Amino acid sequence: IATPVPVVAIDGPSASGKGTVGALVARILGFEHLDSGALYRIVALAALRKGVALDDETSLASIAAALPARFEDGLVLLDGDDVTEAIRSEACSVGASRVAVLPAVRDALFWRQRSYRTGSGLVAEGRDMGSVIFPDAGVKIFLTASVEARAERRYKQLIDKGMAAKMDDLLKDLYERDARDSQRAVAPLKRGDDAVLLDTSGITVQQAVDFVIERASSLRN
Ligand code: DC
Repeated sequence: IATPVPVVAIDGPSASGKGTVGALVARILGFEHLDSGALYRIVALAALRKGVALDDETSLASIAAALPARFEDGLVLLDGDDVTEAIRSEACSVGASRVAVLPAVRDALFWRQRSYRTGSGLVAEGRDMGSVIFPDAGVKIFLTASVEARAERRYKQLIDKGMAAKMDDLLKDLYERDARDSQRAVAPLKRGDDAVLLDTSGITVQQAVDFVIERASSLRN
């Protein structure tokens, strides 16, 4: 029997640093990397571009099922169009959180997410990687940080990119998104008993990466 491809599942709230940590860990381990949040963001962007309402579950599920999206050389492509930056806008952040409450949209993305489990391993990050998509993941991390620390990081990111940002708006937005992601009926954001808690509020990216690598060392043999 073939040994299943090892998975490191990293779940946690918005702007907790999952993306940064996940990408670095994947590179160090030589694993594939799945940013599942990007898929929900692309669905939201595709819907916004097509004028589909963000609560039209049937239409959104069709979009999700036939999503012409690819991840290539660090870029996110939708219909061949580079949307790497566009999906990080506040409109897409809020939109992704809204489409993600819809069960039909989640179902439509289920197998696509599983298909990233190839090669020597996968680092998958999102909200339900350890609970729903890869329940048999060998390492499950719940990566979090205080709302203030997350808002501050997001603020810095936006300012560095030359985008407008207001601390009050970011805080309000994070609270709303946390609430929506945690309180939805299907696959809510929640630390499972089998996930190790990693609070990054007071630690560096390098320390967070080291922590995950240490946990994942058992998977590499
Ligand atoms: O990780 P992120 O902030 O890029 O995710 C964007 C939204 O997508 C987030 O508000 C919730 C949703 N999401 C989800 O429901 N399940 C996942 N596995 C990943 C993201």
